[in-house]
Amino acid sequence: MKWLPTALSLIAPVQAGLRFPCSTLTIQRLDPVVEPGKIPSTHLHHIVGGNAFNVTMEGDVGARATCTTCQMSEDFSNYWTAVLFFKDPVNGTYHRVPNVPVQPLLGGSNGAQGGLTVYYTQFDLSRDNIKQQPIKAFQPGFRMTVGSPTASSKPHVGLTYQCLQGMNRGAEMSDFPTKPCSGGIFTTHHFPACWDGKNLDSPDHQSHMYNTITMNGFTNAPACPATHPVRMPQVTFETVWDTSKFNSLWPSGAPNPFVWSFEGTSGFGTHADYMFGWKGDSLQRAMDKSECFYDGCGSITKQPMSTANKCTIKNMVSEQTDGWLTALPGMTNMK
Ligand SMILES: *[C@@H]1O[C@H](CO)[C@@H](O)[C@H](O)[C@H]1NC(C)=O
Ligand SMILES: *[C@@H]1O[C@H](CO)[C@@H](O)[C@H](O)[C@H]1NC(C)=O
Repeated sequence: MKWLPTALSLIAPVQAGLRFPCSTLTIQRLDPVVEPGKIPSTHLHHIVGGNAFNVTMEGDVGARATCTTCQMSEDFSNYWTAVLFFKDPVNGTYHRVPNVPVQPLLGGSNGAQGGLTVYYTQFDLSRDNIKQQPIKAFQPGFRMTVGSPTASSKPHVGLTYQCLQGMNRGAEMSDFPTKPCSGGIFTTHHFPACWDGKNLDSPDHQSHMYNTITMNGFTNAPACPATHPVRMPQVTFETVWDTSKFNSLWPSGAPNPFVWSFEGTSGFGTHADYMFGWKGDSLQRAMDKSECFYDGCGSITKQPMSTANKCTIKNMVSEQTDGWLTALPGMTNMK
């Protein structure tokens, strides 16, 4: 059980949130939150979730989608991050780093392909917040981002890297690991969970939300402020980037050779996007139940990952993203 977060192994199993895998849906230069309507978007994304994902997304995504790569079959949301690349220190060419599922996969979710793990927690990992402050589910059309590709110093709290060595996740760091990680690079993206109660989006896709957590990890959420009084689910992504086949190409003592798809050579630019798409009131039903944790809950249906893996969308940006590339997709400069 060493893979479980440390906090979890220390506490009694109280039920307080959802955790489930989503397989990779697509890897494309599209961003319906930050660059709606733009084909292609500026940089490459790794996207999971429902098949309503598109260059522009308005209205009720959950009503429109017909399949999802997530284990929770009523969750047609989309979740995405930038893509990690290896930049060869010798010849400067780039290779996409593949994703592997976060271990362990609980609740019969084996068979996930690539993808990431999504959490919807209520307060922290160990406590049921229902009795403290009700959790209001997101509404159709809701979207948000966390972090910024242009960040050049310590990023938003909850955006971290861990260097996987065997079964050990290692310390949470705000920048890329400085040495090869035999088990890959583990990234975490915690979103803010306090909503202004009015706006489904905002010009910077962030100011309609507010973060009250001051430490990394699944920690207690202090009360929401008057400007953003509504407590929403705490959304978190965990992603494993399988760097193993590149580690031997990282010369001892050389600087970190991994870059984000926006030519992000520092790790501070790590960021993530969320597009709400649960069907009907399914997320609210999950958040209203104390028994919802890890294994799904009552009326919230799960699907086998073999079914989830069949959900696909067409590639709307025909460009090469695999193999050794002389430049990152969309990036013309070879720094
Ligand atoms: C994406 O948007 C285009 C243009 O609005 C539309 O024709 C297409 O059907 C959409 N695809 C999906 C999968 O929703
Ligand atoms: C660059 O280096 C990689 C890793 O050694 C190699 O596979 C690739 O073919 C090289 N590309 C060029 C253009 O030399």
